Amino acid sequence: MTIDFHWRLPTHGCHSSIRRGNYDRGDWSPPGPENLAPGLDRAGGDDGYRYIDHLAQIAKAAESAGFQGGLIPSFPNTDDPWVISPLLARETSTFRFMIAFQPGFGNPVHTARAAASLQRATGGRLLFNIITGGGGPAQLWWGDSFAHDDRYGRTDEWLDVFKGVWNNRGFTYRGRFYEVADGGLPPLLAAEDFPEIWFSGSSDAALRVASNHADYYLSWLEPFDQLFDKFARVKEKTAALGRRQKCAIRVDLVARRTEEEAWRDIRLGFENVSDETRQRWRGQATDSVGASRQAALRPTEATRWDDLIVAPNLWGGFSLLRGGPALGIVGSYEQCAAKLDELIQGGADGFILAGTPHLEEAYRVGEEVLPLLGRSAPALREAAE
Ligand SMILES: Cc1cc2nc3c(=O)[nH]c(=O)nc-3n(C[C@H](O)[C@H](O)[C@H](O)COP(=O)(O)O)c2cc1C
Repeated sequence: MTIDFHWRLPTHGCHSSIRRGNYDRGDWSPPGPENLAPGLDRAGGDDGYRYIDHLAQIAKAAESAGFQGGLIPSFPNTDDPWVISPLLARETSTFRFMIAFQPGFGNPVHTARAAASLQRATGGRLLFNIITGGGGPAQLWWGDSFAHDDRYGRTDEWLDVFKGVWNNRGFTYRGRFYEVADGGLPPLLAAEDFPEIWFSGSSDAALRVASNHADYYLSWLEPFDQLFDKFARVKEKTAALGRRQKCAIRVDLVARRTEEEAWRDIRLGFENVSDETRQRWRGQATDSVGASRQAALRPTEATRWDDLIVAPNLWGGFSLLRGGPALGIVGSYEQCAAKLDELIQGGADGFILAGTPHLEEAYRVGEEVLPLLGRSAPALREAAE
C-alpha cells in the first residue's frame, strides 16, 4: 500500500503569510508595494510578473519537495483549471494535475476528448477531483439551477458516458441527462490511460455516486470519528459493488518547529480577521452537506482563537484565515506527522495538503513533515514511503 501526497495550487490568489488577511500574491487585490504576481516596478507600474508564473513556482516547489501532484480548485473567483494545467505541465516533469471539475458544466464526450488529449500531451499526468457544486447563488452564477440530488444524478450519468466513450467503440447510451449513439474516442486517444477519479461530497447522494465511480473518495478534514464513520460508509457501499474504495483527505497544516510557534501564527492570523471576512463566510447560502459540516464548527461566531481548538492539534478556524473548509492541523512537525499517521490508520490512502503561503509551505511540509511519517506508528513508515 502506498499513500499519495498532493499539494494544492491556490488558483484564487495567496497570502504572503497565514498571519495576514490580504491576498497579496496574485491580482485579486489592488497591487501594492508588497504584492507579488503582479508586483510594482520602480516607476510604480505592473512589473510584468504574472500569477501563472507564481503558480508554476508552487508546482515546481511541490514537485521537488516530493508531492506527486496538485489539486487545482475551480470556483467563480479562480482561474480555470483546464487552462492552468497544460501551462504548468510545460514547467514541470512529473507533477500531476488534479482538475476540479463540475461535470454538469461540460458535455461528457467533449470533455473525454479534451482529457485524453491532455493525457497524450502530458504523458498521463491528468487526474480529476469531481465536484458537484454547493447550490445557492454560487451555483446560479454558473447558470446551473439543478437541485442537489439532480446534480448528483447528472454527475453519475456524466461519469458513465465519460468512461463509456473512453473504453468502448460504438458506445451507445440513453439516460435522463445524456444520450450518445455509436460513440467512442478515436483509437489514438482511447489508448491513453483513463484519468484517476477523485470524488468530493458528503451527502448520501455523493457517497452513492462515489461508490459507483471514484478511485478515491475525497473529504475535507472533519473531527476524526465523524470522518472515519463517513469513510466506513462509502467503503461499505463500494464493497457491495465488489470493489475496494480508497479514501483521501484535503487539509491545511500550520506546521512549525515548535507547537508554540504554530499556535502563535494561528493567534496572530485570527486577530487579523476583519468583520467583513466574518460576514462574508457567515452569509453564504449552500445546499452542501459537506459545507454544513464545516460550518457546524462555528468559526464565524468565535471571539477567541482558542475557542476553535476542536481536539489536540486540530483548529476549526481556517476558513476565517483563507476561506474554504474550517478544520485543519496545527502543531510541531512531529505533531503534524502524528496526526497524518492517525488519519492513515483511520483509512486515508491519500492526502491533498496545503499551507499558506503555498510556495514556501510546500517546501516546509515536504521537507519537515512528510519524512517524519510513520514514527508514531512504525508499521506505517513503509506505506508512507
Ligand atoms: C476536497 C473538496 C474540494 C472541493 N473543491 C471544490 C471546488 O474546487 N469547487 C467547487 O465548486 N466545489 C468544491 N467542493 C464542494 C463540492 O462541490 C461538493 O461536491 C458540494 O459541496 C456538494 O457536497 P455535498 O455532497 O456535501 O452536499 C469541494 C469539496 C471537497 C470535499
